[in-house]
Amino acid sequence: MSASPQAVRLILLGPPGAGKGTQSKLLEGRFGVRQISTGDILRKHVSDGTALGKEAKAYMEVGAFVPDAIMIAMMEQQLVGLDAFVLDGFPRTVTQAEALDATLARLHKPLSAVLLFDTDHAALVRRLTGRWSNPRTGRTYHEEFNPPKVAGICDEDGGPLEQRPDDKVDVVEKRLQVYDEQTAPLVDYYAKTGFLKHIDALAPIEDVTAQIFRAIGARDGATA
Ligand code: AP5
Repeated sequence: MSASPQAVRLILLGPPGAGKGTQSKLLEGRFGVRQISTGDILRKHVSDGTALGKEAKAYMEVGAFVPDAIMIAMMEQQLVGLDAFVLDGFPRTVTQAEALDATLARLHKPLSAVLLFDTDHAALVRRLTGRWSNPRTGRTYHEEFNPPKVAGICDEDGGPLEQRPDDKVDVVEKRLQVYDEQTAPLVDYYAKTGFLKHIDALAPIEDVTAQIFRAIGARDGATA
């Protein structure tokens, strides 16, 4: 596929901890294409104490999904006026995928690809329980695989890093179960459309980025 940076419209699909946030932030930096993370948007609502944040918190802290109607309305608002985007964490159910198809058809903005991050259960648990994040920017680190220069401090803004409340091992197991039940059916959904491409997400971070560039027909941040 040859895609201009303006036309890059990607869905990153995969379980919690697969590396979607890490890669979508790298893609945003390289392509200047807007990353839309529904998890980051919800966490901002929670920290701001909005009505939506109060409702979402109750679902998020137990590892459940926020209701489809809320998430679909949120995504429709985000997509207005955007030509290129990387979706991280949406869609997560078949209902959300059908709504996204309808929105993109109405906006005449077809997808470039859906990138499926292939991983395994043990790696996901290890990644999530060792993750540290900057709550101000959403930038993530890992105490073993991707450490900051100074433990507990963000390289970018020098502020403190935190562990997400939903990264406790019991909530992680629940999130992985919910993924298998509600999000894994999207693999078949997108396989039928021909948009689905597999990414070996067990590879090191820079190798995963290189695979993504190959999958979308780009090299070193420039288009092929
Ligand atoms: P969200 O924030 O989207 O969480 P998630 O999908 O569970 O994904 P994560 O952010 O946990 O993982 P990731 O794949 O981004 O991994 P990361 O790059 O950080 O959603 C949170 C909650 O919000 C949901 O549970 C739900 O309640 C709600 N929600 C959000 N969207 C919703 C929707 N559409 N519908 C309903 N509810 C919704 O990497 C993980 C760690 O591994 C990091 O430490 C990283 O440094 C490290 N790492 C990354 N890549 C590699 C690598 N290749 N090798 C080694 N380490 C790596």
